[in-house]
Amino acid sequence: MSNDKIKRASPHVLPSLPYADNALDPVISPNTIGFHHGKHHKGYVDNLNKLVAGTEFADLSLEKIITKTAGKDDQAAIFNNAAQTWNHTFYWRSLRPKGGGEPPATLKQKIEASFGTLDACKKELATAAMAQFGSGWVWLVLDGDKLKVVKTGNADVPMTTGKKPLLTIDVWEHAYYLDYQNRRADYVNAVLDKLINWDFAAENLG
Ligand SMILES: [Fe+2]
Repeated sequence: MSNDKIKRASPHVLPSLPYADNALDPVISPNTIGFHHGKHHKGYVDNLNKLVAGTEFADLSLEKIITKTAGKDDQAAIFNNAAQTWNHTFYWRSLRPKGGGEPPATLKQKIEASFGTLDACKKELATAAMAQFGSGWVWLVLDGDKLKVVKTGNADVPMTTGKKPLLTIDVWEHAYYLDYQNRRADYVNAVLDKLINWDFAAENLG
């Protein structure tokens, strides 16, 4: 009986933040975190649970739901809420208090092999973030043996095109508008310099 409960994928649960809601201040304020985690991220989780209840997706893991609904117009609502649930959990872990700085050696070597320098990698992430028209995400991914920067629109994820995400930055306006208004570049550059969690990206290489 109790096993059934453990195995059930749904209802999906909003993960706690991996740090206090004021831990990223002043780059990202507790006010932004409160709305972003407590309203937006929670909203995606709640919507997903409503949408999958009683369907073939009810007992599937988040990852399975994403891969089974990707690219299917008639399942766009389920895909969007599942992918946004996953993306936000991955985003919170892509940041940390006192982040930025130097990546661990294995990751740094891979960055230098793919981009030349760490600065060139950061610049490509910032450029992609600015080039994403409207809402979306910028990612550092492993594509084959190479690291690449990719951007995705709305809820889209790199996994569905065979790329392994290492870290992400949310560039939906709700991620920065309260703190930076329309200054997306200032938000992205501050995140890259002060919050980005290279240790998390290095773990994802493995
Ligand atoms: Fe977001």
